[in-house]
Amino acid sequence: NPSATTDTKRVLLAAPRGYCAGVDRAVIAVEKALDHYGAPVYVRKEIVHNKYVVESLSERGAIFVEETDEVPEGARVVFSAHGVSPAVHASAAARSLQTIDATCPLVTKVHKEAVRFASDDYDILLIGHDGHEEVEGTAGEAPDHIQVVNSPDEVGKVTVRDPDKVVWLSQTTLSVDETMETVRRLRERFPSLQDPPSDDICYATQNRQVAVKKLAPDCDLVIVVGSANSSNSVRLVEVALNAGARTSYRIDRAAEIDPAWFEGVSTVGVTSGASVPEILVRDVLEDLAARGYATVEEVRTATEDLMFSLPRELRADLKAAG
Ligand code: F3S
Repeated sequence: NPSATTDTKRVLLAAPRGYCAGVDRAVIAVEKALDHYGAPVYVRKEIVHNKYVVESLSERGAIFVEETDEVPEGARVVFSAHGVSPAVHASAAARSLQTIDATCPLVTKVHKEAVRFASDDYDILLIGHDGHEEVEGTAGEAPDHIQVVNSPDEVGKVTVRDPDKVVWLSQTTLSVDETMETVRRLRERFPSLQDPPSDDICYATQNRQVAVKKLAPDCDLVIVVGSANSSNSVRLVEVALNAGARTSYRIDRAAEIDPAWFEGVSTVGVTSGASVPEILVRDVLEDLAARGYATVEEVRTATEDLMFSLPRELRADLKAAG
């Protein structure tokens, strides 16, 4: 529709979008640690995969490091929402670091499943992206029992010791549809493949995909706000395209919007990944309004009210301080 006029231009805004309970908790944990203990507070890896969040916390005195050996002996370090392997806990203890573990409880749940199935001597097929921090953390719980399966295409190269003792687990932020395709192919090869005791792909990932799927077929363009290393954000682009969006792009911030995207575009869908503060979405909506896409309709497919309490170590110190 090359003749889209202001009358026909609109935005469909996905809900739920943006912050999940695990990200909210992890970001607040760093903020409270800065308030309570004072700067600097070290953070191993990006606390959540969002550039803006990391930059904002850096400005307030958080120091982001790749590994615990970059943290001065005895200093305080926060572990990111994506979780860490037991080896990281051990190396932090060896350096007498004071740790605050901001691992999302829904990631910890998957770690516990891995430990349990490994102790029952299962071969564990962990569906997820090799090299992603969450996958490194989960796989590190039972390196001898876990192999990572990146995609449906990798199913053929999986080998197991006993095909009757195989279970699949997954990263929390995958595409539900692609994961189910991987599982289908795995089950063709290993008919007695066991399912995880409960969904590993978390509620927030699932809800954001359902919402974008609902609006995508009506959209000429879907803009996903989120960083390039944010798994769930990148998945939202794929899900939007698979669900019928004509085009879809991921951006970190409004300034990355390209005017060339709007040629003949009437309806723009907007959503954001689980690590994205709402202020970045508001900036995008303002930018769109300035381009004539001022009418915003929310497309809501679920309401979320989950909240997690702060990491235990931090809660104890905050309580002791009254
Ligand atoms: Fe946790 Fe899911 Fe968010 S695993 S950090 S609630 S995306």
